[in-house]
Amino acid sequence: MVARMSDRSVSDRRGTVSGLMEATSVLQEQAPWWQRGVIYQIYPRSFQDSNGDGIGDLEGIIGRLDYLAWLGVDAIWISPIYPSPMADFGYDIADYKDIDPRFGTLADFDRLLEGAHRRGLRVLLDFVPNHTSDRHPWFIEARKTRESPMRDMYIWRDPAPDGGPPNNWPSEFGGSAWEWDETTGQYYYHAFLKEQPDLNWRNPRVRREMYDVLRFWLDRGVDGFRVDVMWHLIKDAEFRDNPENPDWHEGMPPHKKVLNLYSADRPEVHDVVAEMRAVLDEYGGDRLLIGEIYLPLTRLVTYYGRDLQGAHLPFNFHLILTQWDARHIERQVQEYEAALPEGGWPNWVLSNHDKPRIAARVGRDQARVAAMMLLTLRGTPTIYYGDEIGMDDVEIPPERVQDPFELRVPGQGFGRDPQRTPMQWDTSVNAGFSTAAPWLPIAPDAADYSVETERAHPHSMLSLYRKLLALRRRSEALSIGRYATVQSSGSVFCYLREWKEERYFIALNLRPEPAAIVPPDKCRIIMSTVDDREEERVEDALRLSADEGVIAAMEA
Ligand code: NOJ
Repeated sequence: MVARMSDRSVSDRRGTVSGLMEATSVLQEQAPWWQRGVIYQIYPRSFQDSNGDGIGDLEGIIGRLDYLAWLGVDAIWISPIYPSPMADFGYDIADYKDIDPRFGTLADFDRLLEGAHRRGLRVLLDFVPNHTSDRHPWFIEARKTRESPMRDMYIWRDPAPDGGPPNNWPSEFGGSAWEWDETTGQYYYHAFLKEQPDLNWRNPRVRREMYDVLRFWLDRGVDGFRVDVMWHLIKDAEFRDNPENPDWHEGMPPHKKVLNLYSADRPEVHDVVAEMRAVLDEYGGDRLLIGEIYLPLTRLVTYYGRDLQGAHLPFNFHLILTQWDARHIERQVQEYEAALPEGGWPNWVLSNHDKPRIAARVGRDQARVAAMMLLTLRGTPTIYYGDEIGMDDVEIPPERVQDPFELRVPGQGFGRDPQRTPMQWDTSVNAGFSTAAPWLPIAPDAADYSVETERAHPHSMLSLYRKLLALRRRSEALSIGRYATVQSSGSVFCYLREWKEERYFIALNLRPEPAAIVPPDKCRIIMSTVDDREEERVEDALRLSADEGVIAAMEA
């Protein structure tokens, strides 16, 4: 079916934004690096091992900086590399101001930073302020006695009258979020593992100490942070029970049985975020604050903060969470665009270390369309390592499971190991990741989907990503330009990106059957996810094959 899109839907949108257009275009030309830039997430255990222990490390990342520069990303965000017992693979930190020996040393980190900066790559660290490891010296001290000077760094409560946990808050990894401490006769709160006690962010000392951590890394030269579970930092002062979730059903994680109304997203959290932002701003204004936030759009956008003094980028996971069809995605994008505060810069994430990979969710052919979407929507994109070569989730035999979530709630598909397997570099042993047995299995199809193999193929996923990244870099319209809606039709999600005279029409067929759509004007194809269609002129209907995405330049 060929649907003709009404020019009205385009111009309506233009009408509503036109007043702002002139003013914003002047500002946008000086867009900060993170608005034009593309972020690449590295899960350090799985990126590149350099010392033959089967676990990735900083030296390994240093050795791959040339690859990242060649690929054309602008910043790397590295999941936690600090000393940790690894109960949650680094999201349980025992020392915020050092590097875990498994990953290297502070000197290695400084070399990584220098090497990245020399290549024009920014470096973002993962900051995990909601909880420490239970082996952190603060917690070791805090649990000694009720009178410990560190006691109030964490969240302690007396038992309920029946002796049970103080309230019904669940741990995200299963079971109660309250752990009984025999020595001091109180419970402590942990939103995740019991090895990850939550810090008490109502305590000014916690704030001071943690802001010092930020300064420690900012002084070394890091370009910003991705803040773990930002919306969790403050809990209800009265610790009220969470209400039941009427929509919970089998197949959903157990902690979703209640709505985390009182355990997260409390109004006071915004003061903390603004304080973190102020610390970054002490360093001149181009350090980036990203918040990991899983919330509905209208709540998510509150994390930009009053007068945009909160997170620069509250991570938007709605491409991960939304049903993959044109109607749902179009609606999400429009709702997001409409919900953004004035001047708030959007962002999009397609995969991460906590969710199934995009190739596993939509299939490898459709993942190419997803790549085009990620890199042409308005907003900073985040690419998860390996998605650029089409890595798939890997089945993990039970005896090789590592993820504490899977170990605690087994067999229900919540495990995160499948999307954390080693990066596939080449066709040598262990896909070039390590000379030793890797901590997680290598994908069985690693030889076909590796950097080395795909570099040689002009139509590989890697070549597609590289072309998209290069195009985005040279195009103001695609990087910082306006987004304008064009009504989608059937399986085709489409939109315009515009900057001055430069206008692109993007049409994405989200289904494995051919489709067609009529662009608002004549245009010339400049890129397709499936064929060499460059220079093809579109006078009327734009025909798309199954799983095809197209970028077309509008004729003036
Ligand atoms: C979110 C992180 O992305 C996830 O990997 C971790 O398990 C939890 N936060 C706890 O830190």
